[in-house]
Amino acid sequence: MEVATLQNEIRKLLREKNAILIVHYYEREEIQEIADILGDSLALSIEAARTEADVIVFAGVHFMAESAAIVSPGKTVLLPRPEAGCPLADMITPEQLAEAKKEHPGAAVVAYVNSTAAIKAQSDICCTSSNAVKVVNSLTEIQEVLMIPDGNLARYTAGFTDKKIIPWSGYCPVHHFLTPEEVARTKALHPGAPFAAHPECRTEVLAMADFVGSTAGIVRFAAKSPAREIIFGTDEEVMVRLKKESPDKTFIPASGNLVCRTMKLTTLEDIRDSLREMKHVIRVPEEIRNPAKRALDRMLALS
Ligand code: 13P
Ligand code: SF4
Repeated sequence: MEVATLQNEIRKLLREKNAILIVHYYEREEIQEIADILGDSLALSIEAARTEADVIVFAGVHFMAESAAIVSPGKTVLLPRPEAGCPLADMITPEQLAEAKKEHPGAAVVAYVNSTAAIKAQSDICCTSSNAVKVVNSLTEIQEVLMIPDGNLARYTAGFTDKKIIPWSGYCPVHHFLTPEEVARTKALHPGAPFAAHPECRTEVLAMADFVGSTAGIVRFAAKSPAREIIFGTDEEVMVRLKKESPDKTFIPASGNLVCRTMKLTTLEDIRDSLREMKHVIRVPEEIRNPAKRALDRMLALS
């Protein structure tokens, strides 16, 4: 079926069901085009908590839909492709976190939103890549912070706080495997182009960056920059938004491998079918939802 026909069908179903379509910047272009809300992880969790729609369709990965179900318990949250997960979120288990908490009894636990509901439920507060530094520095009585599950984000945050940061060993395979050599090669091909990187990249890559921020931060940086060419270190689909905001600039991915495969699983057909059949509903058991909501609400209160 034609893209425009499918897009129209989805828009009609969304109206009929009083539903909204929330879309992350890493999703396919044809899905971004029909989003009610398009953004980075922080913006999407704020909107999920705020919406008055009855149904939230999440074009993103599992933890994002789960977070929407946590903050909006009265709503039906649909994830069109339930197998669209985030490998980083699976890099810590509740048992491992319980052990780490025993080893660091005085530490607060800051959970990156790229984590499961069960992990959020055991954490003091959540953060995203937009607000990690602000969240950590908001813990005024605390000297030690266990930051899970992304080690790179934890190490990046450590540079902006006096607190002792204990990083977990997880990583995002898309960002972590971007190497300094690849960045150097791309820079050499585009001399003078600033490099904007996501904090999920490794420390050596971030050291080469002119700007470090979330996907929304990278979009804002690119729009403001006087440079005509900009190199970016995050999923290549962000280019859709970069081009829209700054059509006269050229954007260059720092490597050819910046693709989050699970973010690309969802298709327009999946979204249409999910609305037609009201599948796949994401539910979080109350005993996990309540403590997880506390950690998310605490973060949202700082936004
Ligand atoms: P942001 O949306 O916070 O930039 O995070 C990127 C990401 O990896 C989402 O999974
Ligand atoms: Fe997870 Fe990385 Fe994909 Fe984001 S880009 S969803 S952190 S695997």
